[in-house]
Amino acid sequence: MRLYLLSLIFVFTCLFSCTQTAICQSDIPESNVKKWWKEAIVYQIYPRSFKDSDGDGIGDLKGIISKLDYIKSLGVTAVWINPIYSSPNDDNGYDVSDYRGIMKDFGTMADFDALLKGLHQRGIKLVMDLVVNHSSDEHEWFKQSRTSRTSPYRDYYHWWNAERGKPPYRYSLFDVNHDAWKYDSLTNAYYLHYFSRKQPDLNWENPKLRHEVYDIMKFWADKGIDGFRLDAFGFAAKDTSFPALPEGYEKNFMPYYSMQGNLHGYLQEMNKEVFSKYNVMSVAEGAGNSFKDAHNLVDADRNELNMAYPFDAVDMPKPEGYSLLRFKELFSRWDSAFANKGWVAVFLANHDQARMVSRFGNDSPEFRELSSKMLSTFIMTMRGTPYYYNGDELGMTNAGFDKIEDYKDMAALNEYQRLKNTGGDIQLFMEQLKFGSRDNGRTPFQWNGSTNAGFTSGTPWINVNPNYKVINYAAEQNDPNSVLNYFRKLTKLRKQNQLLVYGKYNELDKTNPDVYAYTRELAGQKMLVLLNFTKTAARVNLSSNISTAQLVLCNYDKVPQKNKYASVVTLRPYEALIYKL
Ligand code: GLC
Repeated sequence: MRLYLLSLIFVFTCLFSCTQTAICQSDIPESNVKKWWKEAIVYQIYPRSFKDSDGDGIGDLKGIISKLDYIKSLGVTAVWINPIYSSPNDDNGYDVSDYRGIMKDFGTMADFDALLKGLHQRGIKLVMDLVVNHSSDEHEWFKQSRTSRTSPYRDYYHWWNAERGKPPYRYSLFDVNHDAWKYDSLTNAYYLHYFSRKQPDLNWENPKLRHEVYDIMKFWADKGIDGFRLDAFGFAAKDTSFPALPEGYEKNFMPYYSMQGNLHGYLQEMNKEVFSKYNVMSVAEGAGNSFKDAHNLVDADRNELNMAYPFDAVDMPKPEGYSLLRFKELFSRWDSAFANKGWVAVFLANHDQARMVSRFGNDSPEFRELSSKMLSTFIMTMRGTPYYYNGDELGMTNAGFDKIEDYKDMAALNEYQRLKNTGGDIQLFMEQLKFGSRDNGRTPFQWNGSTNAGFTSGTPWINVNPNYKVINYAAEQNDPNSVLNYFRKLTKLRKQNQLLVYGKYNELDKTNPDVYAYTRELAGQKMLVLLNFTKTAARVNLSSNISTAQLVLCNYDKVPQKNKYASVVTLRPYEALIYKL
């Protein structure tokens, strides 16, 4: 009888909870609809600098393959790899000369297949860059396009015939004169390049070009890759009548370049042709010019992309424009704008940025480890998909080169030349590079304390950061309290707690200039995250008592003393605490 009653209760409970689930499923906000790419922890690999297998000083695919177990050991679930396609390397692979080929420096297609297989065997997905706002000027399409005005490839790019006079000014981000039109005498015409002269912009208004791109995407999707990151795609659509733009527009060019024309139409077409046919995720580079733009890019009912990648935090002017209040305010604003619909990436660094700890933490020997761990705690406990840049798990820092000869980034070198040509302030520029250059994030991965940090047996393509003897994988691997092992704890925690992925975010003590405090909450469970962003002790007012809270993670070796009646908590310098409430 007892058994009978128990089974009746069981059946009723099941029925009840099923109805509940049914109601919940249809009622839950779009943001809480489960997707693998929302639950992913993305690890970004800069292949040129990760691991060299053949001694030519350049990282390669075999190098990455040799580190697959390391990548797995991090607990990440997806890898985003920067471009590995054939390229003359004007912009380190962001100038593609063959979208179906592998860059010689990096290896062969067989290496790629082995890499993909090795990742998948370890349950890790692979996201690839799709660089189709522009190609290389050495791509066959451009070579053909240049040859004659009647070439079938002419309209794959944007040309302005010189007899019409000079085209209206367009700003170029990387050009030595900041001029996006390059004259080509072969056909007496100018071509457009928003980036360098070797990166001519593709003409998305041309349906033939668009379908070529979809075929390329299918080629990679058929190989089994798991996603695309759409490089600079916000710039792809243009008003091809090229009207004059207001004088000085280049100081704030985004509203004139990003999200123009029929961009959404192209993305919807891309979605229909490619994304809808494969189990691949798609992430924008950037997020448009407003929340509305971002929603239009990624809300599920738009059928465009899966997630936006907002630049607001890394775009805060360097270094003086940063304040924790601004930082908190902007992450909170993004969170609330996406609480119900759409999805965003959360990150503090990538290959175009200064190192995370040098930028937002403190890279002095005293605080480097603590502040690295604290920043990782932030990334791994926010709502949104974390994108974590290789080397940050070791707490790698800016190299801050002094000499221009040490810089390799074409963008930096062209700007240096421009300032020289125009009598600009070189000294100031060198100071700015030291902190903000993209090369800071591109120095070789520090594997161990041997020559060249164990990255290569040859001469590295860019100098290794001299601090590799102290900051390296070998030193951290066996230290249970290292930045590396702390990161592993964080990935584990995130994977074990869906509330860290989907849970509601609520900021506490908003006006506190030193501490970032927030809760995450899902289905009756709650976690509290406290982060001291300063090098001194700082207090946070939680307005409710957390004396019964259970400490889940702390970035100090010694856990904090239990503060019995705590609603005001004092945090140690750069302390990070996660509690279960
Ligand atoms: C994106 C890439 C950057 C590249 C640029 C041009 O911003 O992240 O590295 O230089 O596009 O392709």
